[in-house]
Amino acid sequence: MPKIKIGVLASGGGTNLQAIMDACDREDIDGSVVVVISDSSDAYALERARKGDIRAETISPKGRTRDEHEKLISNLLSEEGVDLVVLAGYMRILTPWLIDKYAGRMMNIHPALLPSFGGEGMFGEHVHEAVLNYGCKVSGCTVHFVSADVDGGPIILQEPVQVLEDDTPDSLADRIHPVEHRLYPMAISLYASGRLKIEGRRVRILPERGGT
Ligand code: GAR
Repeated sequence: MPKIKIGVLASGGGTNLQAIMDACDREDIDGSVVVVISDSSDAYALERARKGDIRAETISPKGRTRDEHEKLISNLLSEEGVDLVVLAGYMRILTPWLIDKYAGRMMNIHPALLPSFGGEGMFGEHVHEAVLNYGCKVSGCTVHFVSADVDGGPIILQEPVQVLEDDTPDSLADRIHPVEHRLYPMAISLYASGRLKIEGRRVRILPERGGT
């Protein structure tokens, strides 16, 4: 199978993007990041892309309808021949139009164990706050395919992280982040080697070729 071309959408610091770029460099992922798109020119994710010699573009939603904004994103992804769209801290909800275009070819990472603490308004530190306010003893992160149901697409990988007595949203986020950095590249690597099969809500992880 040829190397896959990955397009990343990111709004913030881009530590997940960095983990994915590093995994591509190490050839843990049979693919490469070809473009990084942000909705904010301040996003440090763009800087990380430039440092890695990857095309970095801001497509601002300002002064544009949602449809116009997404059409520009879609054009850029097509222009770069992107096979897989990776949402890495992208803080906007996409319309079904773009999601359908990349059905089964768009992933997201969420900093909690879905289906808990997902959906509209549940992003970044709001998620960790909600987990602590609820009194959960366990949180974690989830990588899933994107569907029109926000945070409701088929789950690829999940890993739990213990909530500690003195946790704050920041300290919990700090322990979940390194798990995200391991899980996201792993999910992309499985995709790149053709080992993910969506069956309804379930994502089967197929054995390695040549394995059992
Ligand atoms: C990550 O923790 C990711 O799970 C979260 O944003 C952070 C981005 O960090 N995503 C969401 O909350 C999406 N609902 P990063 O910019 O350092 O990768």
